[in-house]
Amino acid sequence: MTDLTAALVQRGFAAPTRFEADLDDCEVAGSLPSDLNGAFYRVGGDWYYPPLFPDDAPLNADGFISSFRFNKGKVDFHQRWVHTHRFEQQKAARRQLYGYYRNPYTDDPSVRDLQHPNTRTVSNTAPLIHAGKLFTLKEDGLPYQIDPNTLATRGTWDFHGKWKSQTFSAHPKIDPLTGEMVAYGYEATGMASDDLFIYTLDKAGSVRREVRVKVPYVSIIHDMAITHRHVIIPFGGYVTSRERLLAGKVHWGWDASKPSYIGVIPRDGEARDMRWFKGPERCMMHVFNAHTEGNKVILYAPFYDSNFFPFFPPTDGSPWNPAKARAFIRKITLDLDSSDDGWHEEILWPMQVGDLGKVDPRVVSLQSRYLYTSYNDPQRPYDRDRCGPNAPARMTNSYGRFDLVTGKVESFFAGPTHNLQELSFVPRGRGEEGDGYLVGVANNYAEMRSELVVVDAQRPADGEVARVILPFRLNSQVHGVWASAGELPLV
Ligand SMILES: [Fe+2]
Repeated sequence: MTDLTAALVQRGFAAPTRFEADLDDCEVAGSLPSDLNGAFYRVGGDWYYPPLFPDDAPLNADGFISSFRFNKGKVDFHQRWVHTHRFEQQKAARRQLYGYYRNPYTDDPSVRDLQHPNTRTVSNTAPLIHAGKLFTLKEDGLPYQIDPNTLATRGTWDFHGKWKSQTFSAHPKIDPLTGEMVAYGYEATGMASDDLFIYTLDKAGSVRREVRVKVPYVSIIHDMAITHRHVIIPFGGYVTSRERLLAGKVHWGWDASKPSYIGVIPRDGEARDMRWFKGPERCMMHVFNAHTEGNKVILYAPFYDSNFFPFFPPTDGSPWNPAKARAFIRKITLDLDSSDDGWHEEILWPMQVGDLGKVDPRVVSLQSRYLYTSYNDPQRPYDRDRCGPNAPARMTNSYGRFDLVTGKVESFFAGPTHNLQELSFVPRGRGEEGDGYLVGVANNYAEMRSELVVVDAQRPADGEVARVILPFRLNSQVHGVWASAGELPLV
């Protein structure tokens, strides 16, 4: 490993952890709610071997999955690598074999497979629970099925051969009223292909519909939204091409001259019904939720002004501009009766937020009141001395509950030495939106270990109701999800 690689693989809290773990009866501070019965799953990346190229994207790190199993006032923790084809190949070779993010041309010849680039997925982005099964996802390959209790990897899943795209999105959406899942694969027929396949699966996990469309240009299509009538597909800015891959570059570059797009298609529509709305430069990674009002689609999303990822550099050779990598909570109105292809956008709160937002899963596709995400509140104390030199300049120190009705923001503060990872919503009660808990991992920089906070989602300002204290440091989660005991065969 070169010194430069060592620098980019990171030290301190984000340094690779490289271990699997089983820890029963974790230490708990506070009082665990007696009604918590289920598991919080989190997925992320952790380099087992350092990357071949020092400027590679951290998104290329090996996938892992961890779980906090809550039952009867106890919490058990488990963590496993996702034993992907790629992970097994490099473990057998005892070294890194794979090159740049989503560029098989840069792989070691012993594993280079240009016909099946989806076999090099690290499955490091998100957990998915549907039809009683647990999966790990990454948008460049098929899902991996995971045992929900042991976290052992069971292999890839192609939905009984009915999933024809080579790839599967990291962020499918599940309709809480029907149990249906809407998902898609982009670059569906191969690297840099402009094919987007959109699927509807029934609540048993069987493919019921497939629609094949072409995208305006090939770009990251990372997240989507559904309403009770429509599927919404946003993207913008990132570009790739076969020439770019043959030149040995990381898969994506940023082209600020490219418009952003939001595709809208009826849930029962055909390819000819897809309508692409066109907008200004935007980095559209994640959404909160959407709903349909008459012939208008309303989308809430924490989109960035411009390129968020410094490791996907501008194609014109200019330096990455951190000042434009700012996310705000936006309300986007797409008028299906309009004669032009633009949309109306409104920034709802002036503060920058983290773009890993959530809503109560019981209101996905419906008009919702509360949006939840993490953010930096500069008014909160920050104990730099205790955090040490490797801590970030700005801590993600708060969770916010953003109320679309009153405009109020209720916040939870994690502490002056804590950096919060993505939150997840745990539903409680009989279905009233917002009744539940917020859970998520906090990096405790003062003690260099991790904690899981459990916050009452209706009273975040009261502080956490409980904190699970781990005696070690966890690596960075990308996404997490809560599974109630009835959703998976948990023991
Ligand atoms: Fe994501």
